Amino acid sequence: MSLRLGDTAPDFTANTTDGQISFHEWLGDSWGLLFSHPADFTPVCTTELGMTALLKDDFAKRGVKIIAVSVDDLDSHRRWIPDIEEVNNVKFNFPIIADEGRKVAELYDMIHPNASEKATVRSVFIIGPDKKIKLTLTYPASTGRNFQEILRVVDSIQLTSNYSVATPADWKQGEDTIVSPSISTEDAIKKFPKGVKEVKPYLRYTPQPNVD
Ligand code: BEZ
Repeated sequence: MSLRLGDTAPDFTANTTDGQISFHEWLGDSWGLLFSHPADFTPVCTTELGMTALLKDDFAKRGVKIIAVSVDDLDSHRRWIPDIEEVNNVKFNFPIIADEGRKVAELYDMIHPNASEKATVRSVFIIGPDKKIKLTLTYPASTGRNFQEILRVVDSIQLTSNYSVATPADWKQGEDTIVSPSISTEDAIKKFPKGVKEVKPYLRYTPQPNVD
């Protein structure tokens, strides 16, 4: 059965380009971005892993550790990394799981037989420090992911798990947020000193609470 939001991210041990890891132990108290790609030495994947390496510091600022996975073996991953570095002008900087036995792919339901019998699709899992799944995304092999969008979602998840707000369509850091529907406007005015703007009784905006 596929994993759902709020499920515990399955634990596993695996060989990676940075050595053997036990997933939950490797995550520690951090957030995690676990994402699969269909195959090494393929064009879209080469751009995706390069982009993620370029954004590693942006993920780290948010307390997110990055780990990739495909069903290729360690030797293949190691031979591919110099290409990722050359094409994207980046030093590769996070582990890739060698999942030739499909253990991780099966635990996280990353193989979608109607897309490919053999390869993982482009799955994304954001995992919280409580090891619960906070986000799942699935893209087809032919569509490279937008990692700025994944950072944006991390910002929203981290904000909304600490404050009684939600984020509107296309929200970005610093923009107004939406008061949680569970809070009355009267209580919201007390709770959010920066102000509350009522557009509809069920749609109330307040400036992002954790920025000046
Ligand atoms: C790619 O990464 O370029 C790719 C992989 C599998 C199918 C199509 C594209």
